[in-house]
Amino acid sequence: MRIGILTGGGDCPGLNAVIRAVVRKGVEQHGDEVLGFRDGWRGVLDGETVPLDRTAVRGLLPRGGTVLGTSRTNPFALEGGAERVRATLERLGIEALVPIGGEDTLGVAARLGDAGVQVVGVPKTIDNDLEGTDYTFGFDTAVGVAMEAIDRLHTTGDSHHRTLVVEVMGRHAGWIALHAGMAGGATVVLLPERPFDLDAVVAHCLRRFESGYSPILVVSEGARPADGGLVTSTGSTDAFGHVRLGGIGAALAQVIEERTGREARAVVLGHVQRGGTPSQFDRVLATRFGLAAVDAVHDGATGVMVALRGTDIVRVPIAEATARLKLVPLERYAEAEVFFG
Ligand code: F6P
Repeated sequence: MRIGILTGGGDCPGLNAVIRAVVRKGVEQHGDEVLGFRDGWRGVLDGETVPLDRTAVRGLLPRGGTVLGTSRTNPFALEGGAERVRATLERLGIEALVPIGGEDTLGVAARLGDAGVQVVGVPKTIDNDLEGTDYTFGFDTAVGVAMEAIDRLHTTGDSHHRTLVVEVMGRHAGWIALHAGMAGGATVVLLPERPFDLDAVVAHCLRRFESGYSPILVVSEGARPADGGLVTSTGSTDAFGHVRLGGIGAALAQVIEERTGREARAVVLGHVQRGGTPSQFDRVLATRFGLAAVDAVHDGATGVMVALRGTDIVRVPIAEATARLKLVPLERYAEAEVFFG
């Protein structure tokens, strides 16, 4: 078969491991030809491809980012975009498409699947907020980076008797903040799912200072105070309408400093969380997803996404996975709250 593969949306450690697995299994076990599209849906619109064989994927397993490049291009937001996608697939003789992405990239895949294109999606996002799968690859790596940063910040924060506010990624879901905060022993964890009470946050910081240690606050970029203050965003949006966030950490540090009378600084981890080599968990998960995607293609499955349930790789309808985001349940937040203050 001739299979097209693309990576869309924010990059994520493990993308190259999926590409490698699709090529290794497809080419070696099925005699497939695999064509990579450059820069997500942009490459499909423009018909820009790169042939992928065993040599092309050598050394990709531990490599961060995506060798195919990525973009947030949405073909359905462009006039004639869907027709251009179909024309490219027909011209290149692509029989099945394996898009690797989050809710946006897979949302496009679902619409193409409905229109008769054979699509098998692979879920990725460091945010871990895709429904239908227990985990997405990239999340474990991002949490590891954030946890290491928190570990390091404890010693410098304590030495200077200052509050450190660590802003992590997570626009709508606070999985990274929750896991990194729990793993790193944060004084407070603030998530988008749970608007926070500033007075309570200040009280936790004061209590921490009283115990002779300095507070570390772990804050998702999408976290907001219950009273609606401190809202920060650049105002710009991408092709899928997402606002670019940033600034909650700095805003919070300023208020905490005023209200505790102790210096507070913000540390924004940003894209450090998305770069670099994937963890062993993400390498294995990404590899298993790639292998399962090839199986699904050869079984004639379409409109499905490979997913992790427990320790099994299963197939779920893409539409189910993209219908809503997987948010942090309140009971998971309650577990972290035990350690606040
Ligand atoms: O969806 C993944 C993600 O890393 C989010 O956590 C973050 O809000 C967003 O991408 C940032 O996107 P960009 O790299 O385009 O600024």
